[in-house]
Amino acid sequence: MPKKLTMPLRRDGLDPLPALGNLREADPVSKLSRVFGMNVWLVTGYEHARVVLNDMSSYSTDIRALLGSGAPASIGGLGFTDPPDHTRLRRFLTPEFTGRRLAAMLPRIEQIVQDRLDALESGDAVLDLVPQFAFPIPFLVICELLGLPVEDRERFRQLGHARFDVTGGGAGTFGAMSESREFLLEAVRNQRDSPGDGLIGAIIRDHGDEIDDLELAGLADGVFTGGYETSASMLALGTLALLRDSDAFALVGKDDTAVDGIVDELLRYLSIVQISFPRFARHDLDLFGRSVSAGDVVVCSLSGANRDEALGASADRFDPRRAGRSHLAFGHGFHRCIGSELARMELRVAFRGLARRFPDMELAVDPSVLQFRDLSIVYGLDSLPVRLNVAASRSEGQT
Ligand code: HEM
Repeated sequence: MPKKLTMPLRRDGLDPLPALGNLREADPVSKLSRVFGMNVWLVTGYEHARVVLNDMSSYSTDIRALLGSGAPASIGGLGFTDPPDHTRLRRFLTPEFTGRRLAAMLPRIEQIVQDRLDALESGDAVLDLVPQFAFPIPFLVICELLGLPVEDRERFRQLGHARFDVTGGGAGTFGAMSESREFLLEAVRNQRDSPGDGLIGAIIRDHGDEIDDLELAGLADGVFTGGYETSASMLALGTLALLRDSDAFALVGKDDTAVDGIVDELLRYLSIVQISFPRFARHDLDLFGRSVSAGDVVVCSLSGANRDEALGASADRFDPRRAGRSHLAFGHGFHRCIGSELARMELRVAFRGLARRFPDMELAVDPSVLQFRDLSIVYGLDSLPVRLNVAASRSEGQT
């Protein structure tokens, strides 16, 4: 893949490459490249990205045009679907993410986090937080939300990781995508006759006649992949950012009123979903003075836009006391993340739990050896070795 095209996915540790910031300042709507006869535009400005993400009449997110003759009749899911199907399908999901439903999930999330903390405390003094904390929590939350059988969960975990990894080329990603769709199709078919307690069962009970198996599997697939890897990456990278700023970590443990703002600042600063779904221009249009042609691909760099000074001074810095919670970490407009409140809830409970149980936790390796995921749409860490320092925390608690 040409370097210019992968630049928005490459980073220097937690930060986007300086080239992305330079591009935003010089050319917030810039023509990146030409691929398969289409211009590819990269939008790095905050206001510019909001305009694109909010304009469903000028852009389509239906990628079937790119897949050519092998494209399925129905793409499933929300991200790659346009109205009127998008509107109809999103309506089925929305009730599953209301404040009332989420409030009902809170005790379950708290229990999942407590169980994980107990497991950490009774394990080794030095351990890897990625497999032992960051992945299991959202994984269990999402499996319960969907109502997936326990015995199928490991297979799901593997497919969820593979589909966002572009290092093996597009074929690997699409292969994993169709396998996970097949997997969920089976789960939907199994629940048609006896709907379960989760989201799949609830939609079958309430709207079973209005949605076919493929569409429901697509929705479940979007919820699974959208909710799992993203939240896991936020937990891993967010913990790293907090360990680099001991005051912020202490604040999370001590001040309940500060946690909401810190979680949103971490979401903005880390922007783990680095780019939006591609938007395809439906017609020729003028985008902040640039001539975009029908069929061109417009991609918003969420990590670039979230570092725009339009969001406040020193946007390149993580500031746990930053005022204002505006950012594009969950996107904007019609395709804005449907699970944003669930994600915030998980992150608050998990970070608070870590900071309270292990206030003296520290990184167990030199930061320079940490392996960040390369060229992945969802940025993340493969491993985060930490030293829990449980004894020190206990004796401090006694004083
Ligand atoms: C920290 C965690 C998360 C982040 C950073 C995140 C980020 C995003 C972003 C940026 C988009 C919009 C992409 C675009 O417009 O191009 C999106 C869409 C979506 N997200 Fe999330 N997400 C997170 C967690 C979740 C969770 C927990 C769920 C569900 C349980 C979820 C489900 C979805 C779905 C279904 C969409 C598609 C919405 C649509 O197209 O209408 N996400 N997410």
